[in-house]
Amino acid sequence: MTSVYPLSKKCFAELVSTLSMVMDMEENIKLYHGWRVALFADRIGNVLGMPTDELFYGGLLHDIGALGMEDHIVHRIMNGDYLNDPKILAHPLKGAAIVKRLPGMERIALYVEDHHERWDGKGYPAGKKGREISGGGQVILAADLIDISLRHIKKPDIKKIVDSFRTLKSFFRPDIYEAALEVLGDIPFVAAMVDYNNLRYYIESRIRLEEDQCSPDQQGGEIFINIFADIIDAKHAYTGGHSRRVGEYSLYIGRVLNIGSLFEDNLYKAALLHDFGKVAVPKRILDARRRLSEAEFNIVKQHPVHTIELLNSVTSLSFLAEAAGGHHERYDGKGYPRGLKGSDIPLYSQIISLADSLDAITSDRPYQKARSFSRAAEIIGEMRGTQFDPDITDAALEAIKEFAVKEKIV
Ligand SMILES: [Fe+2]
Ligand SMILES: [Fe+2]
Ligand SMILES: [Fe+2]
Repeated sequence: MTSVYPLSKKCFAELVSTLSMVMDMEENIKLYHGWRVALFADRIGNVLGMPTDELFYGGLLHDIGALGMEDHIVHRIMNGDYLNDPKILAHPLKGAAIVKRLPGMERIALYVEDHHERWDGKGYPAGKKGREISGGGQVILAADLIDISLRHIKKPDIKKIVDSFRTLKSFFRPDIYEAALEVLGDIPFVAAMVDYNNLRYYIESRIRLEEDQCSPDQQGGEIFINIFADIIDAKHAYTGGHSRRVGEYSLYIGRVLNIGSLFEDNLYKAALLHDFGKVAVPKRILDARRRLSEAEFNIVKQHPVHTIELLNSVTSLSFLAEAAGGHHERYDGKGYPRGLKGSDIPLYSQIISLADSLDAITSDRPYQKARSFSRAAEIIGEMRGTQFDPDITDAALEAIKEFAVKEKIV
């Protein structure tokens, strides 16, 4: 498999596995569906002598088309209430379209497209039959159904899983069915897949197999940063497009401040990712149409901490962690999470913070109607020297004017 030029394969592996983990985050709970499907698919492929790289990445990304649904797809499938839901029926094709955005991953996109097709022709989305279905799609389906049945039982009773898998014979190409049963026969491996600490170890060891290096200054992760921004914006209904707008406003402010093109590029990336940690905040809190309780607000206040942790866990994005995670600090030291003051707050964070406020003021929110850009300039001006650094506030006010002229907003 070719890597996403110029990303090293190791950086790529880290990005894809983090992407998968984040998709499977429900509030603070990690479901690790993608990780387990990837590891099972890798094993099954190994038994069959298939190229396992593509199965591994396909497994990590197979449900990417189900992003932003009310309830995680795993719960929907476990409850069996999905067959009339157009969103569920569309997720393989939608996912394939997203995976195609990653260069060199056309085959993986095909696997994603096929991962609910069945050998007997009774699957979806196309009802393909027998050899019409890609082998990779069938391997991922096997891994997917194994993971779902693992979730149905409290203790890993392997015999029960094997018995329930045996009933699915008509779903699979015969050799793939046999290979999946062989993998299920490896009891220590199956038991390891149930233990979440072990899972991390298995994923990290798999990433280590890539022999090249991943360093913090790796370039080329733009596609991922954009997909991450889509995830953040897809998760929370009323903030649609927020990350991109904050990115754009940050660039306007950065240009007024003359930070230079290289820095603009990093500023834009940090801005796209500033709310990454919101994937760990419960949807019922983020989308609440009422005032939050103190306890709820404290949970919201943790999101920059999660942003920092998530970005630090990806080598090629770690240099953006502090910039992205500092966007709720305030010039007067009354911000969060660290209560940093004045110039202790990274410049990028201060710019993103202004851009974030600008978007909050000018967007419709459950508790407030969107206000005009000129009203936003007034409100931001009032916070000059308290919430915001005076010089950066002046730059932001200048940027708002430029933006309003260019976009013809009165
Ligand atoms: Fe799926
Ligand atoms: Fe799945
Ligand atoms: Fe935020």
